[in-house]
Amino acid sequence: MRTTVIAVIAVLMGLTGPVFAADAAAGKAKFAVCAGCHGPTGGGNPALKYPRIGGLGAAYVAQQLRAFKSGARDNATMKAMTAALSEADMDNLGAYVATLRP
Ligand code: HEC
Repeated sequence: MRTTVIAVIAVLMGLTGPVFAADAAAGKAKFAVCAGCHGPTGGGNPALKYPRIGGLGAAYVAQQLRAFKSGARDNATMKAMTAALSEADMDNLGAYVATLRP
């Protein structure tokens, strides 16, 4: 009985814990292509209208990437950039972009 209770609690803790922890190092690897427009530290390029993104909140960045991918935020360039990104990629990119200091 006692073992069963402990097992149930362990399972519930597993379920309520983070299913996926964002990994900034993995995001950095994915950011190489982004740096071409947004700059290596996310400073952007005002002349070409590439926005500054370095230091934006991780959750905000991940949310914008999902919106570009789904088309909810309409931008052809960013839709193309996010087309091949997985859910984990977008969380990882958010975590990495948040660490940048342009
Ligand atoms: C070819 C140039 C280009 C590349 C490469 C690119 N972006 Fe963008 N990005 C843009 C442009 C242009 C916008 C502005 C879109 C708009 O006005 O809605 C933008 C917007 C964004 C925004 C929204 C910023 C805000 O303030 O809401 C984020 C976040 C972003 N990009 C992240 C990325 C990430 C991460 C990558 C790499 C996977 C990437 N971008 C690759 C051009 C680019």
